[in-house]
Amino acid sequence: GDVGAGEQVFNANCAACHAGGQNVIMPEKTLEKAALEQYLAGGRNEKAVITQVTNGKNAMPAFGGRLSDEDIANVASYVIATSEAGWD
Ligand code: HEM
Repeated sequence: GDVGAGEQVFNANCAACHAGGQNVIMPEKTLEKAALEQYLAGGRNEKAVITQVTNGKNAMPAFGGRLSDEDIANVASYVIATSEAGWD
């Protein structure tokens, strides 16, 4: 996916709960590398992010039907790339 386009999707749809790669609702479930490796169902990879964003999980809403498949793929690329680079 397109990381730059994904950053715009993230800022518009995810940052309310995940600003700076954090998590305001479940503080341990951040978007940082170690947390994704520990908590994300399916591991720290784009496919697993796509699944969670499409379907939602617990207090995280589902974005399937609200975002296009392309937007979801792009935001997943942005999340994985930024978890690798560091959110700071
Ligand atoms: C968890 C991505 C929007 C609330 C996660 C995780 C990812 C993610 C990758 C797994 C983190 C981990 O397990 O360490 C995104 C993306 C979003 C988005 C890319 C935008 C498209 C939101 C919004 C909210 C939210 C808007 C709040 C209304 C949560 C919560 C969890 C979570 C509560 C923990 C779910 C659980 O395991 O129970 N998010 N998120 N997310 N997100 Fe989001």
